[in-house]
Amino acid sequence: MSIDELIAHLDALEAEGAPLNRVLEGAVQALHESDARFHWTGIYELFDDGILRLGPFVGAPTDHVFIGVGNGVCGTAVAERRTLNVPDVREITNYLACSTETRSELVVLIRSGERIHGQIDIDSHQVAAFDAPTVKAVERLAERLARSYVAASEGRS
Ligand code: SME
Repeated sequence: MSIDELIAHLDALEAEGAPLNRVLEGAVQALHESDARFHWTGIYELFDDGILRLGPFVGAPTDHVFIGVGNGVCGTAVAERRTLNVPDVREITNYLACSTETRSELVVLIRSGERIHGQIDIDSHQVAAFDAPTVKAVERLAERLARSYVAASEGRS
């Protein structure tokens, strides 16, 4: 499924009245299946206490269900308010291992302006799996999911 197809799939889910959690699950499932280099694909949601909590995911279960802002790649992306694309996790110190096989990791924020709703986190067993078109596609999906968060907060889904 291309990113355009994936976004159309989410539009259809929402049009059917699917709640936010179903939209997030559908996004994670389809994103994971969209690229053989994605070995773990999930969403962490940011709560008002500054803790990321694991939402829907596909892949091996992880011990990192709660991550504080500033911790690991996930928490650092929130602290620095930006996408983090780590080509080789063995070269960074602030890393929380989900699987010893992980080599590269991409974290893209789901945000509406200054408001960070959460993030898409993808791990790959391949070094530097996340090339520029892949990052762009995941960022487009994150923008689409941000709209779902806003709709849910306004009671539209
Ligand atoms: N590697 C992440 C933790 C999440 S697991 O990869 C699923 C990090 O360093 O924050």
